[in-house]
Amino acid sequence: MDRAGAGPDDLVVELGAGTGEIGVHLLRLPVRYIGLDASVAMLDVFRAKAAEALPSLVVADCNQPWPLPDGSAATVFASRVIHLLEPDHVARETTRVCRPAGYLILGRVLREPEGVKERLRRRRQQLLLEAGISPRQSDAGARRVVERCVVAGGESLGRRVVAEWTGESAPATVIDTWETMSRMGSFPVEPVTRTKILTELRHWAGDEIGNLDRPRAFRERYAFDIVRLP
Ligand SMILES: C[S@@+](CC[C@H](N)C(=O)[O-])C[C@H]1O[C@@H](n2cnc3c(N)ncnc32)[C@H](O)[C@@H]1O
Repeated sequence: MDRAGAGPDDLVVELGAGTGEIGVHLLRLPVRYIGLDASVAMLDVFRAKAAEALPSLVVADCNQPWPLPDGSAATVFASRVIHLLEPDHVARETTRVCRPAGYLILGRVLREPEGVKERLRRRRQQLLLEAGISPRQSDAGARRVVERCVVAGGESLGRRVVAEWTGESAPATVIDTWETMSRMGSFPVEPVTRTKILTELRHWAGDEIGNLDRPRAFRERYAFDIVRLP
């Protein structure tokens, strides 16, 4: 927000605010904050977390016109959601709702290519392709949004890593979590196909990675792609 020069009267809009993982921290800054999300349930969790801060949270599909006036925002922020949105629409709406020289900030988690989760994700992508499903790549979506904003006269200020952490996770836990999700690689996958793909993934991981229950260390980083708008 410092970088974007956002002050107390300035509006920061978060797309896909979810449960407020990042949004609760933005609420503490001296800016005006509005979080948009398509899911009532996610925003309910955010509201409960934020308690007395009474955040402005609006149920809205960000693939539709955003419920915000032209030129009203200093910054549009989207964390871990851009792969679920239509890039050209995001670029158009961002340039519409942002004031001149506003900012677009895209947040994402970066994983080491040889980490367990990333290896499993890559194999899952292959299995999806073999099943005739073409999963969207989150990096491609983010790149496209940045490109469209640059074509509209903005300037890409590049990527900046702002946090880093380590942990441990077992391949079985990663796959079990995917079992509970209705989407894979941003794409809704019906339960029978999901179970088939994850069963194949378990076999593959047993052969390639070894004991699925043994936790492996990982290191992850969180980065912003920053664009100054025209
Ligand atoms: C992985 S969560 C990220 C939440 C939060 N931004 C974060 O980084 O913790 C993705 C969020 O995007 C929301 N979402 C997905 N598609 C959306 C859409 N078309 N419009 C608005 N929100 C959407 C989901 O409901 C979910 O809350």
